[in-house]
Amino acid sequence: MTLSELENMRRQCLEEVAGAEGSAAVESLRVKYVGRNGLIPALIKAMKDVPKEERPAFGKAIQAWRAETEEALAAKAGSSAEESVEADLTLPGRWFDLGVEHPLSRVIAESAAIFGKLGFTVADGPELENRFNNFTALNTPAHHPSMDRSDTFWFGEDCLLRTQTSPVQIRAMMGNRPPVRVICPGRTYRRDTTDATHSANFHQIEGLYVDTLPEKPVSLADLKSVLAYFAREMMGDGVTVRFRPHFFPFTEPSVEVDFSCHVCKGRGCGVCKQSGWIEVAGAGMVDPRVFEHVGYDPSKVSGYAFGFGVERIAMIKYGIPDIRWLYENDVRFLSQLA
Ligand code: DAH
Repeated sequence: MTLSELENMRRQCLEEVAGAEGSAAVESLRVKYVGRNGLIPALIKAMKDVPKEERPAFGKAIQAWRAETEEALAAKAGSSAEESVEADLTLPGRWFDLGVEHPLSRVIAESAAIFGKLGFTVADGPELENRFNNFTALNTPAHHPSMDRSDTFWFGEDCLLRTQTSPVQIRAMMGNRPPVRVICPGRTYRRDTTDATHSANFHQIEGLYVDTLPEKPVSLADLKSVLAYFAREMMGDGVTVRFRPHFFPFTEPSVEVDFSCHVCKGRGCGVCKQSGWIEVAGAGMVDPRVFEHVGYDPSKVSGYAFGFGVERIAMIKYGIPDIRWLYENDVRFLSQLA
């Protein structure tokens, strides 16, 4: 046996494999060449008759040939298996995992549907805002102490990552005449360190309803009934709403909004920290100075506004203990909410 004879055998073998059709042909070539009694094992056994100094070259060539043949046979076997599967029309189809809607997207979509039934449309605004929309028009003058909490992420003098969705109120009023009835879901940014309940980047849903006076006065009672409806639709029957006095620069009067705890039905549990109530939003009657800033006559309009934290709603609705889980994209967590 010479190296060139070996090369001829190798070439013929690979040609036969390349030309094989169907799994039976592939199997018989496997037996013929690499099977226990096949040609290649026989040649390996015959190596003992090759002169000692030529053995390494022969050994190397045969091993390479065997690897190539096995690889070619495996590829052929795979493709002929696929062909026979494709030909079998009675087999079940391939299954694709569709994934699930992210809890934050779900809360936003459900909120849009709930407020949609009450006549609210969805308005959008940019995440990069100017000073006027994010602060000044919302009755927060430059250097006001309440800016400290959110005074960050500036891009030059007059552009920042919005600290709340409230600037979309300003855009909605400047772009429309009353009545204005919108919700504005979106991403917001804060000067916050991240822990189980805080994130420097989170989501809010703003709401605004403004109508004309004297025909259509808007009251705090209207606000309460709308939020009570939202609470029941979002969290389930029996969930009620309570207002606590608070301060926001852009509403007067201002309130913080609590939902009664949907887990313990108000009796007190770990979720509501034994209080029976969970804080979910800020709200109030639009301050006349905000109307002035957007060019509305405060004697001819009245309205309410509110702002929810989307993460907060998702965490209490789905029992999520750590806000960071919402951003980690871990399918073991997300798929549980399917
Ligand atoms: N923008 C407020 C915040 O981020 C939330 C808020 C409070 C929005 C009262 C409102 C409102 O529209 O009327 O803390």
